[in-house]
Amino acid sequence: MSIEGKVIIVTGGTSGIGEGCTRHFAEQGAKVVTSSIQQEAGEALEAELRGAGQDVAFVACDMRNEDDVAALIAGTLAMHGRIDGCASNAGVWIEGTVTEFTDDAWDLVMGVNVRGNFLLAKHLVPVYEEQGGGVLLITTSVAAFVGFPAHALYCASKAALDALIRCLTTDHAGVMRTVGICPGTIDTPMLAASAVGFPKPIDELYAEVAEKIPVRRLGTPEDVAKAAAFLLSDDAGYIAGTSVFLEGGTMALPPW
Ligand SMILES: NC(=O)c1ccc[n+]([C@@H]2O[C@H](COP(=O)([O-])OP(=O)(O)OC[C@H]3O[C@@H](n4cnc5c(N)ncnc54)[C@H](O)[C@@H]3O)[C@@H](O)[C@H]2O)c1
Repeated sequence: MSIEGKVIIVTGGTSGIGEGCTRHFAEQGAKVVTSSIQQEAGEALEAELRGAGQDVAFVACDMRNEDDVAALIAGTLAMHGRIDGCASNAGVWIEGTVTEFTDDAWDLVMGVNVRGNFLLAKHLVPVYEEQGGGVLLITTSVAAFVGFPAHALYCASKAALDALIRCLTTDHAGVMRTVGICPGTIDTPMLAASAVGFPKPIDELYAEVAEKIPVRRLGTPEDVAKAAAFLLSDDAGYIAGTSVFLEGGTMALPPW
């Protein structure tokens, strides 16, 4: 189950789940190229992990910009000569309903969450063809399966990824192994942002949510990172075209 020595890109790699992946993959001995739009946080993370003797580089990349995505892939190849896997984790969330969302909201959520993955795959496939294979691991969400109130845009974007994972799997069979990881409630800055506006302190709210989850706690970025490392490794070589749930049993609950 080792990713030791593998060259792995992490998008959205400087906060929450992505930061957890960057830290865990580097600790496991992977050569990590981590990226996001958080330049300062990225540089600080790179300096901290390099200081600890780990092989981590930060590359600024806005997943809405094709030139940035192409440069992320080219830059990784220039650094390491190959790319073994990519944890595509960058994502955004906006609260609202269909009567409230603006075109800009659509462009942001669909642009990062869906088109970002489309662009990443477009630029990874030629590399994987040339070197004889590689992995694309896409972070989806239980939001693809549940109609969370005031989450229409986010839920639709995540559901689109499940279709994309299947299509990439069939279109690039034998070249790119595409798989999803489907988190439930993970304690990150995005989750905290979604809790703003609730009429109770966040700790109380999290404790109530934890009580409803079968494993009785929120997930951590490390929970996701450990599963992600396995899914990127050769030991997961027969897992493709599907998403692996990481939600503490949430989806097993009856709806009443
Ligand atoms: N936290 C949860 O409960 C949860 C549950 C299911 C799925 N997810 C998914 O996990 C992923 C990570 O979420 P998180 O909770 O860690 O959120 P987060 O807000 O802590 O991190 C999001 C990351 O994406 C990056 N990002 C945002 N816009 C970007 C852009 N245009 N280009 C490049 N990078 C960009 C940010 O810089 C940040 O590094 C997202 O795809 C999210 O949808 C989260």
